[in-house]
Amino acid sequence: MPAKEIIDLRSDTVTLPTEEMLDAIRHAELGDDVFGEDPTVNRLEKLAAERMGKEAALLVTSGTQANLISLMSNTKRGELVILEAESHMYWYEVGGISMIAGLLPWPVKSRLGALDPEDVEAAIRPQNIHFPKPALICIENTHNRHGGTIITPDQIRAISGVALAHGLKLYMDGARIFNAAVALKVDVKKFTKHVDNLMFCLSKSLCCPVGSLLVGTSEFIEKSRKFRKALGGGMRQAGIIAAPGIVALERMIDRLEEDHRNARHLAEGIAKIEGIQIDLSCVQTNIVCFDISGLGASDDLFLSTLKQKGILALTVAKNKVRMVTHKGVEKEHVEKSIAAIESISNELHLN
Ligand SMILES: Cc1ncc(COP(=O)(O)O)c(C=O)c1O
Repeated sequence: MPAKEIIDLRSDTVTLPTEEMLDAIRHAELGDDVFGEDPTVNRLEKLAAERMGKEAALLVTSGTQANLISLMSNTKRGELVILEAESHMYWYEVGGISMIAGLLPWPVKSRLGALDPEDVEAAIRPQNIHFPKPALICIENTHNRHGGTIITPDQIRAISGVALAHGLKLYMDGARIFNAAVALKVDVKKFTKHVDNLMFCLSKSLCCPVGSLLVGTSEFIEKSRKFRKALGGGMRQAGIIAAPGIVALERMIDRLEEDHRNARHLAEGIAKIEGIQIDLSCVQTNIVCFDISGLGASDDLFLSTLKQKGILALTVAKNKVRMVTHKGVEKEHVEKSIAAIESISNELHLN
């Protein structure tokens, strides 16, 4: 937790590198990665591909860049991409899907983030002079705006059946895929087996300062390397980013269970507070979303009062607050947060 004991629950992106990561950065063997000569980057990419059960991987600057590159590598300009209506790619990536990749996003609504194969099937329109050619289906796992929900390996397999039947590619924005694997206690390869390619982030709950990895076939990664360069993402001594990434893959995954336990504790505590509504079945990993409309306070008033009590959170829609647990958030911080929300509720209900 940063100085002054602020409890920062806005996102797991606020995590700081561990001492071991800083040591790894200090001692990383470096080279020019645009020439393919950074041994630390090469090690990380090999490790990431092995972990995901795919042929190759590519270190990129961010999750957003990974998603954009994958769109470009998996499609041709003017094609249609089916994605979940609340997905990060659709909501939060500045429309790069259209602005840069030249694609038509086709959002499909879901329950809890898992696309229904029948809805996907219905979104794939027949070949017709009027329609753009569908090329790609994207899923997000865990699903951020749905509250860190898990798309199970069986659900992925069902969607991949539709993709295969229509000759489409299936891509997974797996920014937090290790949270899903840890929560279900299964090897992450169960989630990656039925997608053509995916990305995951080092810079969220795995605590790295920067970086995401794209993973897929060697051909996909070679294509992606070129697009990364075109987007200005070719990095030189990128081993300083890769070194903590290796620590993350080797040491930071099992501890995600702790974040999930804290999120559950937080959710169950909040659920008892007057004026708060929360669907506990959505709390599956490290994200807790809840509705504050019953408090009768505006989002701004709620967040600023919480901030005065030393706790930071975000809203993701009107009256919908999000809190994310991560390394540095301990059980005592969770309890302090529950008590703070309870005191806001009491203050509002007394007035
Ligand atoms: C599901 C998901 N995908 C992609 C991203 C983008 O990652 P970045 O912030 O590294 O660009 C995020 C970031 O929060 C995310 O939650």
